[in-house]
Amino acid sequence: MGHGIGQVFAMAGFRVTLIEPSQERLDSGLAKVHKNLEKGVARGKVTTDIQKLAVSNLSGNTDVTKGCQDADLVIEAVPEVLDIKVNVFTQAEASAAPHAIFATNTSSLSVQEIGNALRQPARMLGLHFFNPVHIMKLVEIVISEKTDVSLPEVTKALVSKIGKTPILVKDSPGFASSRLGIAIGLEAMRMVQEQVASPADIDTAMRLGYGFPMGPLELTDLVGLDVRLDIAKYLSRMLGERFDPPQLLQDYVAAGRLGKKSGQGFYKWNDGKKVTE
Ligand SMILES: NC(=O)c1ccc[n+]([C@@H]2O[C@H](COP(=O)([O-])OP(=O)(O)OC[C@H]3O[C@@H](n4cnc5c(N)ncnc54)[C@H](O)[C@@H]3O)[C@@H](O)[C@H]2O)c1
Repeated sequence: MGHGIGQVFAMAGFRVTLIEPSQERLDSGLAKVHKNLEKGVARGKVTTDIQKLAVSNLSGNTDVTKGCQDADLVIEAVPEVLDIKVNVFTQAEASAAPHAIFATNTSSLSVQEIGNALRQPARMLGLHFFNPVHIMKLVEIVISEKTDVSLPEVTKALVSKIGKTPILVKDSPGFASSRLGIAIGLEAMRMVQEQVASPADIDTAMRLGYGFPMGPLELTDLVGLDVRLDIAKYLSRMLGERFDPPQLLQDYVAAGRLGKKSGQGFYKWNDGKKVTE
């Protein structure tokens, strides 16, 4: 998600520093942005002027404190683990501008709990993007009880400036989108487990019967089964057993079937494309 978030801000004219823990990962993130932009130009979705603007606005760093020097806005998209997120923000706060806004892209963790690690917890909120970031229009702005009252309006304007639609959500487990999306996804997995129908037919039911642009199992493959498993475990702890991860999901993750990124999830994937059988 991190490179995608960087891309959309760079395209909107903001100077962006992409931060990764190693040069190899940083190069890979920057290369993904360049590839996305090239694809966008080839498809007529991005002008060459915007491509040039984005490339010139984008730089990288492998050190959080150095990369966040005087930053006005710090957005993290590191793994869905509280300690890792807290560690990143603690390093960022040491060098970011005093007025900086700190935003987490967490899909489910408590924004307030992450913010408690800051010297100024009022500067923390959630900016929850959707995958793939350069295409999906929604951003959930997650407001905790400690978030400064001025930040919702400031971030709504920011989100609009990068061409996305903001919604305001209270800091509660799963916010609006993950809570509902995971509930549907887990039920679809239980249906596969009980052999009610094939993954393809379950997805077709939701696309054609309910107008979903993509079925819940294909979406799970796209997001990553490991990511969804982590979210389900968290929501199960916070909201109860209705979010217990189905055995099938646990087995697939244990076997390395993580979805598109590993080549197999509920579907087979080859070169980033779903294989139709
Ligand atoms: N995948 C999605 O569709 C999606 C959607 C919305 C929000 N999110 C959230 O965004 C966050 C990232 O998810 P993702 O799918 O991009 O994960 P990912 O595993 O693809 O990316 C994690 C990134 O963090 C970096 N990283 C790993 N360990 C680190 C460390 N110790 N310190 C600093 N950086 C480290 C990795 O190099 C990588 O670039 C999670 O909180 C996830 O819940 C994901």
